[in-house]
Amino acid sequence: FKIKKLVDQAYREAKLSKEEIKSILAEDINKLDYLLQKADQKRTEICGDEVHLRAIIEFSSYCKQNCHYCGLRKDNQQLERYRLRKEEIIKTSQMASELGYQTVVLQSGEDDYPAAEIAEIIKEIKKTTGMAITLSLGERDFDAYKLWREAGADRYLLKHEIASKNLYEKYHPGMSFENRIESLRYLKMLGYQIGSGVIIDLPGQTPDILAEDLLLCQKLELDMIGSGPFIPHQQTPLKGTKTGTVEMTLKFTALSRLLLPLTHIPATTALGTIDDEGRQKALKAGANVVMPNVTDGKYREQYQIYPDKICVNEEAGDCRQCIGSIISSLGRHVSQNKGHSLRK
Ligand code: SAM
Ligand code: SF4
Ligand code: FES
Repeated sequence: FKIKKLVDQAYREAKLSKEEIKSILAEDINKLDYLLQKADQKRTEICGDEVHLRAIIEFSSYCKQNCHYCGLRKDNQQLERYRLRKEEIIKTSQMASELGYQTVVLQSGEDDYPAAEIAEIIKEIKKTTGMAITLSLGERDFDAYKLWREAGADRYLLKHEIASKNLYEKYHPGMSFENRIESLRYLKMLGYQIGSGVIIDLPGQTPDILAEDLLLCQKLELDMIGSGPFIPHQQTPLKGTKTGTVEMTLKFTALSRLLLPLTHIPATTALGTIDDEGRQKALKAGANVVMPNVTDGKYREQYQIYPDKICVNEEAGDCRQCIGSIISSLGRHVSQNKGHSLRK
């Protein structure tokens, strides 16, 4: 009963205290049908039945960081690395555009791909396809963010991962939580639509921290918020720890929709990896975005953030079709527009 009252309040006012968020996150998912249902209702009101697709190109698996959870981390010497050339990235984007995608996401490890070359890629994609462009390249210097924005990039995706300075810095050696947040603020100032989000169920993460995450997302005035379950990778320091749960990911997704109604929320690939129906479940709990892979099949296995990632044996066209049928099976449809920020 108490939970129902809190969900109604979140639905009405998009506002809950930290303690209130915590009590929802700590509740058993079986008692949370109402939460998922209200999040779905809010999603219908704000976004209708359209689902935005963002085509993701994983263009380089080189990374200079050492995030404890990620298979691309620098110290994982068992991983064979690849880096696509400028022409290949442009060609893949054009193919994505021909498949009907209206947004391309350029993602990589924190590679030192020359900033000027990225700018040229952005300009060429814009000129030849007109697609919206999201960058997800990790932290770079502020001049690079500015250069890319001027070249035409529309959005930047940089998860803050976990709203605990302590745990953030434990899991990201040599990185600082303040820099992460400062980057997001600076990106916003430059006029990027900004996306952030978290990894769900990292070891040591508590409902208290996850509640803090949601409050931080509100403060940052995000345009997009993503949450994927943590999936342990054998060649990382977090090997052998527990996989994140579908339940916590869905609770977080639903609360994201209620507390930040005007955001885009993806049904993540990580959730689809730990549960065959994971993306469908998220789409019914507040999510309105899916990010299918368009990277050439031969590279997919090498972009091994976590094991058993879905779609590694598929090609771009297969994923486009697969996602199309998932979306129709839910009675929804693929959006015909770019799906810019809902805030403007
Ligand atoms: N290097 C860029 C960055 O870190 O922002 C972009 C690429 S990185 C692979 C994209 C996201 O993968 C990260 O934000 C992180 O949340 C997620 N990720 C990495 N390892 C993961 C794991 N083992 N389980 C779940 N998500 C993971
Ligand atoms: Fe590199 Fe990003 Fe993986 Fe961290 S999460 S190791 S920055 S690819
Ligand atoms: Fe890639 Fe289903 S989205 S196979």
